[in-house]
Amino acid sequence: MAPPHFLLVTFPAQGHVNPSLRFARRLIKTTGARVTFVTCFSFFHRSMIPNHKKVDNLSFLTFSDGFDDGGISTSDDSQKRSVNLTVNGDKALSDFIEANRNGDSPVTCLIYTILLNWAPKVARRYQLPCALLWIQPALVFDIYYNHFMGNKSAFELPNLSSLEIRDLPSFLTPSNTNKAAYGSFQEMMESLKEETNPKILINTFDSLEPEALTAYPNIEMVAVGPLLPTEVFSGSTTKSVKDQSSSSYTLWLDSKTESSVIYVSFGTMVELSKKQKEELARALIEGKRPFLWVITDKPNRETKAEGEDETEVEKIAAFRDELEEVGMIVSWCSQIEVLRHRSVGCFVTHCGWNSTLESLVLGVPVVAFPMWSDQPTNAKLLEESWMTGVRVRENSEGLVERGEIKRCLEAVMKEKSVELRENAEKWKRLATEAGGEGGSSDKNMEAFVEEICGNSVVQKLSCVK
Ligand code: UDX
Repeated sequence: MAPPHFLLVTFPAQGHVNPSLRFARRLIKTTGARVTFVTCFSFFHRSMIPNHKKVDNLSFLTFSDGFDDGGISTSDDSQKRSVNLTVNGDKALSDFIEANRNGDSPVTCLIYTILLNWAPKVARRYQLPCALLWIQPALVFDIYYNHFMGNKSAFELPNLSSLEIRDLPSFLTPSNTNKAAYGSFQEMMESLKEETNPKILINTFDSLEPEALTAYPNIEMVAVGPLLPTEVFSGSTTKSVKDQSSSSYTLWLDSKTESSVIYVSFGTMVELSKKQKEELARALIEGKRPFLWVITDKPNRETKAEGEDETEVEKIAAFRDELEEVGMIVSWCSQIEVLRHRSVGCFVTHCGWNSTLESLVLGVPVVAFPMWSDQPTNAKLLEESWMTGVRVRENSEGLVERGEIKRCLEAVMKEKSVELRENAEKWKRLATEAGGEGGSSDKNMEAFVEEICGNSVVQKLSCVK
């Protein structure tokens, strides 16, 4: 009998594709399913995916977003791309489903990530089961769902203090200017409301968010995370990791004492204003602790400050020499390897969900420095629920001043370091139990496939080595 065949379509951004691809591999390994992974041609060829090791039962399908050579710079471009994504994505999925309909391996189920509201419509047209792969925490899903169901009162959880405006996903705050993102989440939540028993696969784990995962009895939330490379859970070192071992930043980290280095990264989309960058730079210089700071020009300049055309690298040009007397600046690194390094004692993070999970799985305390989207809520969870970090407070103009950054760094590196490390170690253990082979997330994934396809088709093929 042919294994179940999942069509998995992902929004073309690093923070979406990475967890989705890991989900695909885990699904294949755990259940023997076949996965066809769909994303845009432009992203696929710019990414590292074509160089990845081949995996049995995993194949790729790409379609054009109209910008095959990249080059999306204006909001007009973004709008055009969004239309192309809908029209061309719908056609690519429909053609594929049609072409395989009467073959050996017809599509069994469609899985889609956020910002792709056209995808479940294709599934409905072909009467295929479908599920949303939510790449943010369960709590953020709950907050959006509550908001778009028209509930006037804020979403509450028993063990979390009331959510203030600064804790909400930024698209739900009064100052939000991103109407497209707001509209997309609204459409998604309203469409889920129409389904009888919607299934949401969530990149989290059972013991991390037990209440948030069961907040709505009518919605089946299935924890399938943390979706990170398997070697993170086993503690083994892969070839790609060994290749890193001679990189300049690894050698630099090797030369530092245990837990003495501050690692600073704001992910792949967020840009800091020039003023904010200067405050952070001054805090790091004045703090005199060694730091490794990833500063790179972002292809998706989502949070570019109004009127600022300087690139990320240009913004720190005036104090680069002073910075490099204390720390090291890189344009990119293997974040997982850095967080795993014994000399790293603190992670200054924008709290993107992948970075948040990586800090938990690798047991590194954080200075939470959220910027937009889900990041403020993730920061609240880190500080208040999981207690592995300290969150910065912005002034009345929204700027986090150098004194405040220094206060948080000292708390994590010194005053609260024992307590935060103990908590981080606890989450590392629980995350490894849930995400390791045969853990609760593998079991949840198996149960999900059984529910979609019936018991008999779940085969233990263990295709990925
Ligand atoms: C985006 C959104 O900004 C975020 O809010 C949402 O939760 C996910 O999608 P992004 O900003 O890219 O994500 O941040 P994050 O989710 O943290 O993902 C960044 C990834 O890039 C991480 O997996 C991190 O390990 C990796 N990275 C980053 C590196 O490997 N090296 C680097 O130098 C920087």
